[in-house]
Parts: sequence; C-alpha cells; structure tokens
Amino acid sequence: MTTVLDPGADRAGLNDPQNWQGPASSGRVLKPGELDLSHNVILYLEDICVSFDGFKAINNLNLTIDAGELRCIIGPNGAGKTTMMDVITGKTRPDSGKAFFGQTLDLTRLTEPEIAHLGIGRKFQKPTVFENHTVFENLELAMKTDKRVWRSMLAALLDDERDRISDTLKLIRLAGEADRRAGLLSHGQKQWLEIGMLLMQDPRLLLLDEPVAGMTDDETERTAELFVSLAGKHSLMVVEHDMAFVEALGGKVTVLHEGSVLAEGDLATVQADPRVIEVYLGR
Ligand SMILES: Nc1ncnc2c1ncn2[C@@H]1O[C@H](COP(=O)(O)OP(=O)(O)OP(=O)(O)O)[C@@H](O)[C@H]1O
Ligand SMILES: [Mg+2]
Repeated sequence: MTTVLDPGADRAGLNDPQNWQGPASSGRVLKPGELDLSHNVILYLEDICVSFDGFKAINNLNLTIDAGELRCIIGPNGAGKTTMMDVITGKTRPDSGKAFFGQTLDLTRLTEPEIAHLGIGRKFQKPTVFENHTVFENLELAMKTDKRVWRSMLAALLDDERDRISDTLKLIRLAGEADRRAGLLSHGQKQWLEIGMLLMQDPRLLLLDEPVAGMTDDETERTAELFVSLAGKHSLMVVEHDMAFVEALGGKVTVLHEGSVLAEGDLATVQADPRVIEVYLGR
C-alpha cells in the first residue's frame, strides 16, 4: 500500500518513523504530520535569533506555550513580537534556534502553507475579508481553502458544513449579519469575521497580532470573551498593547524586550516588575 504523505514532510522529519511512531499521550500511534501533545506543549521556541542587516530583532528567545493556553505577549514597539510570529508561521527563517509545534514538528523546516495546513492560523492587524461577499460566504470560502474542498461535492456533507458555519456565526456574534455584505460591517465586526474565517480551518494554535486595535471598548470586551471561550480547545498567542484587554484575557503574560523575554507571569506580577515598568509600562 502506498502511504500519501504531506509535501515537505521529509524536510521536517515527519516521514522519519522515529518522529511519529512513538505513543502520543493517549498511547495511540501518531500519523505523520499529526500534532504530538504528549508533553502538553504546543509551541516550543529555543534560543531563536533573527537578524536584519546585523540588527538582532530576535535575540536568544525562549518561549513555551502549553496546549490550550491563552498567552498574551506585550512589550514596546520594535520588541520583536511580530517577528516572532513571522518565525512561527514560516514567513521568516531564524538564523539559529529551534521552533517546534508539539513534540515533533520542526517549524524551521516547513513552508508557510505547510505550517498553516498543520494547524497554525494567523491573524494580521488589518482585517482582510472579502468585502463584496456576504458574511456567510466569507466563512464558506474560508472553509474551502483547505484540502476538504472535495467535500462540497457531496450533498450529504453540506448540512454538516452549514452547521459549522452557523456555530461559528454565533461564536463571533454575527449570526444576525450572515447575509450582509462584509464590506458593510464595522471595523470590529470585520475583525471578528476574520477570526471566524480562521476558526473554519480549525487551527490548533491561533496567533493574533493586535486584534483589538481600532475596536470600541464594547467590541474589545466581547473579543476578550470570545478568546477566553476559545482557549482550551485551541491555544492562543495574543499580541496586544491594550492592558485592559490583556487583563480581561486573564492568562499568563510574556514581556518581550529587544528580542528576548524580559519577564513572564500573571499580569499583576509583570506589571509590578521594575524592569517592565522601565522599558514599557512606565512610558
Ligand atoms: N523585514 C525587516 N527588515 C528590517 N528590519 C525589520 C524587519 N522586520 C522587523 N524589523 C525590525 O525588527 C524589530 C522588531 O520588529 P517587530 O515588528 O517584530 O516589533 P513589534 O514588537 O511587533 O513592534 P510593534 O509593537 O510596533 O508592532 C524592529 O526594530 C523592526 O524595525
Ligand atoms: Mg508588531
């Protein structure tokens, strides 16, 4: 029997039986490319360095995110927050260091589409929805950009897809706007729609870069509720400057400064840290 493996699997070591035949947490045998959360760690970054023309944007960065965790990343402009997301998603190759998704998937050896396909979804700051399509169609299109596109041929599965879209619409508070053109939504609603589009791909890890920038206070609060509700099923890494939002999320906070971790802990602890006050909060 021929086994069809993901493209790029060889490069990432996914085809090496050593990397996937070991027992997962459940004692099951993992399939190639399957996320191994046997140590409860979904993202592992070790000694990552990224230089741009000799300038160290990321400097020996070490960071671990647990499965199901909701992590906030804060830090001054230029600290390397977005660059870190570029490394995780394969947009930027680190000069050195390790980056693993679960125990076995080496992110430094995979391309951007391969990483997205493995289950890392990213939201950039600016909403990028299809303005001339309805909210419903946007979610439908997002679902069909992956390999399951053939499923749409099977009428029996369409109900299942409709259910998924309807669940997502409720989650992102756009159930009442399903038939509205996306271009007519408020800025905050567009952000939610884009988050919904990411969710249609069922990512295991979501990277969200300044998701509440430009939102009203009410929209910001609703977004915090949404992210809290997503944690557990998904893991989230949220970069934000809005401290009220970070507080509402309630998770562990990592402070980045000059490309390294300056402090880590609950918000109250890092807020009381004199080094954090000096470089960031006391500005
Ligand atoms: N492609 C690039 N070429 C050169 N320098 C870059 C590049 N990308 C980022 N940098 C530099 O690397 C540093 C880190 O940038 P990054 O965008 O990661 O910061 P950030 O923490 O996301 O900041 P902000 O809070 O303003 O979004 C900055 O000094 C930035 O100018
Ligand atoms: Mg940034």
